[in-house]
Amino acid sequence: MRIAVIGCGILGPKIAGELAYHGHKVKIHDVNVSALNKVFAILEADKKSLIEDGLLYQKNFVGQVLCMSRLEETVCDADIILEAVKEDLEIKRDLFERISHLCKPDAIIASSSLRIKVDDIVSRTEHKHRTMGLRFLFPVYYIPEVEITPTQYTAQAAVQKVRAMLERMGKTLFFRSGAQPLVLSEEQREERKIARLEQLKSSSGISMMFEKKIPLLAHEGNSTSSHDQDTERSANQDKECAICFDNDRDCLLCPCHHMITCHECSKMLLNRRDGCPICRKDIKEIIKVFHS
Ligand SMILES: *[C@@H]1O[C@H](CO)[C@@H](O)[C@H](O)[C@H]1NC(C)=O
Ligand SMILES: *[C@@H]1O[C@H](CO)[C@@H](O)[C@H](O)[C@H]1NC(C)=O
Ligand SMILES: [Zn+2]
Ligand SMILES: [Zn+2]
Repeated sequence: MRIAVIGCGILGPKIAGELAYHGHKVKIHDVNVSALNKVFAILEADKKSLIEDGLLYQKNFVGQVLCMSRLEETVCDADIILEAVKEDLEIKRDLFERISHLCKPDAIIASSSLRIKVDDIVSRTEHKHRTMGLRFLFPVYYIPEVEITPTQYTAQAAVQKVRAMLERMGKTLFFRSGAQPLVLSEEQREERKIARLEQLKSSSGISMMFEKKIPLLAHEGNSTSSHDQDTERSANQDKECAICFDNDRDCLLCPCHHMITCHECSKMLLNRRDGCPICRKDIKEIIKVFHS
């Protein structure tokens, strides 16, 4: 699936990484360019520790997260849009309204709001039936539970679509019970992380605070089960331009040498002094590549 994450604070890059490592095509955006520019380094550091912990066993295949400087280019093709900006009703409400006009009419738009009512956030959103609250618990890579908060408008079909996507990743959806959101303490996080790693070693289910079996380890889920599939998918994924989705990727961005855009979009990035969508390095030059 194509997923857009809005917000490069603490949560956004980790949600983006987790989704990309499960084979989704992920774009992330923030209006704060310096926050956007940090995403690549955060993902690289997370990747390293996930590999050390044995959670990412395929060192050669990890999905890419594209860091986009324009909201429109981030959400226009997304199937699911996850908002993870700071807890501010006006910002979230405005963002939802803008996104709802820029994205596909059936794209799901979800808020990671902790305490603000999602019903208030979506008050000016087009097609409210595809909105909901969706909150990944921190630390995202190690905690399978994801909190879902339907609004009064949310269609059952939208919930089912999100549920199916997350369950394929080995995640478990839960609904908030009572008025207070579930926020894990530092100790609980550490405990959950250790449990996850133990589970990896022993491959046996452990019952923890949620009193149900922790599902299969996320990165061993069915969606990323076969290496062949992964290489095939990543090969397909590597073909289309990350920005226009029409042309093939046929340009090297210099000096970083990432190849993710077509010639026209590369020129556009160069002209507007935008950074490389992978690493956000300045683009000094573009080199057209000819496939024989
Ligand atoms: C933008 O992001 C940087 C780096 O994450 C942060 O230090 C800064 O406070 C942010 N600026 C604003 C206006 O939020
Ligand atoms: C993974 O595949 C197995 C066998 O095909 C199936 O029994 C299981 O339910 C699947 N798990 C998920 C999370 O889809
Ligand atoms: Zn293009
Ligand atoms: Zn680059």
